[in-house]
Amino acid sequence: MKEFDFVVVGSGIAGLSFALKAAQHGSVAVITKRKGADSNTAWAQGGIACVTSDEDSFELHVRDTLEAGAGLCDEKVVRTIVTEAPEAIRELMEVGVHFDERDVTGHRELDLGREGGHSKRRVLHVQDVTGREIENKLLAALGRSPRVQLLENHTAIDLITAAKLGFATEDRCLGLYSLDEKTGEVETIRSDRVVLATGGCGKVYLYTTNPAVATGDGVAMAWRAGVAIANMEFVQFHPTCLFHAEQRSFLISEAVRGEGGILRDARGEDFMSRYHARGSLAPRDVVARAIDAEIKRSGAQCVYLDITHKPEAFLRERFPHIFETCLQLGIDMSRQPIPVVPAAHYQCGGIKTDINGASNLRGLYAIGEVGCTGLHGANRLASNSLLEGVVVARRACEALVREFPKEQDHKIALPEWVSGNVQDVDELVVIYHNWDEIRRLMWDYVGVVRSDKRLQRAASRLRNLQREIREFYWNFKVSVDLLELRNLATVAALIVDSALLRKESRGLHYTLDYPQTDEAHFRRDTVLSRG
Ligand code: SIN
Repeated sequence: MKEFDFVVVGSGIAGLSFALKAAQHGSVAVITKRKGADSNTAWAQGGIACVTSDEDSFELHVRDTLEAGAGLCDEKVVRTIVTEAPEAIRELMEVGVHFDERDVTGHRELDLGREGGHSKRRVLHVQDVTGREIENKLLAALGRSPRVQLLENHTAIDLITAAKLGFATEDRCLGLYSLDEKTGEVETIRSDRVVLATGGCGKVYLYTTNPAVATGDGVAMAWRAGVAIANMEFVQFHPTCLFHAEQRSFLISEAVRGEGGILRDARGEDFMSRYHARGSLAPRDVVARAIDAEIKRSGAQCVYLDITHKPEAFLRERFPHIFETCLQLGIDMSRQPIPVVPAAHYQCGGIKTDINGASNLRGLYAIGEVGCTGLHGANRLASNSLLEGVVVARRACEALVREFPKEQDHKIALPEWVSGNVQDVDELVVIYHNWDEIRRLMWDYVGVVRSDKRLQRAASRLRNLQREIREFYWNFKVSVDLLELRNLATVAALIVDSALLRKESRGLHYTLDYPQTDEAHFRRDTVLSRG
């Protein structure tokens, strides 16, 4: 058994920021499924929202966030995160992140990007690879900290709680089981302070802008431990994922529209001006639904993002990653519009937490995309996610140190993982088949536009799949594929169950059966709990 003062699962901006802070107070393990840099953060292009310009204000950032959130944001949480943003940015700069600057009449100032739903330019960025830069700098800082152990190729399986061990009246998180992929052994890791920073669940959908690691592990583990989960119906679809047979998950940043990119149909018409006053820069839910409607109406496979009116030199400098990736696929964005489609991008719901990331299970915190603090409500404002990750990480560390004094309480013994006489999975085809089926059915039945009938169909298919997976889980030796499949199925079912409960359309949840927003009955979070 291993033992740490703090255990963090996930190595994106939230997990790494937390680990760096926590190392000032004790030993820290960072458990991550693949390499340290394999996270959603590393794929983030647009940037991080923060008020820095004289033309902007906290009030405007708060207003834009609340407006995008369609009545479900927690205003107190929004204000806290928006006003603590400059301090969080300062800390990122301290670890070496250099946000882009520009010359303004004799002096340098931050080059601020603009994205959908923002009334001002306020997105700090590093070209179009902001997340990668932040991730690399945080990992480098972590490498200098002797108190942090980065456990790569380790997959967290399940939380160990007092209730699961029969101490229901004093339930709290005691640690977790983790699979070391290299040895195939399951380790018991004890800690009174467990922080989930596992990111989102984009892989639950057939098309996503997320990397392969985004399989909803944190939400699924928390759910199995009886923790409350909120607002899972609010899945954000990014309007502009590259449509190309060889590159299915490549994001074309909203910042391209922020710099003047226009969405056009196959005939070249700027269709967004028919849908919203802000045209191509309307909030994401509006743009994604409009594209979905255009595609369904015309029978086309995609729409096009046109920024050919900008000089090639500007595009190469501002969007080097997007420019090069498109070019390698035969698309010169300075000369031709980029084919795009919506794809699953961000989980706005998650483990229900307070502003410090505390869940309703003592000792368990959830930070970043896996948590639901109330910042995003029914729809996240672009570039508020990296911001939430770093601000809440800091608050979580302060809260854990304050509320959980260092002495470990070992009155409950933790049992070792029991494998029994299980065999290796020899039916890999079953795992892959179920994985594909979940992703396809979620895309077809639980996508941008929903209906009760489609949701019910999805719910019934998922129940069968979950039964099959459970059987598999108990009969075979655990593997990363099997663990991810089990989590994916759990999260898919949570999305469907939450969507079925919301009999209205709001933010990212749009259903043909209830196309209006129902303020009287549904201006509230959807909270699910097994506990
Ligand atoms: C983007 O670059 O379009 C993504 C930004 C975000 O999701 O916040």
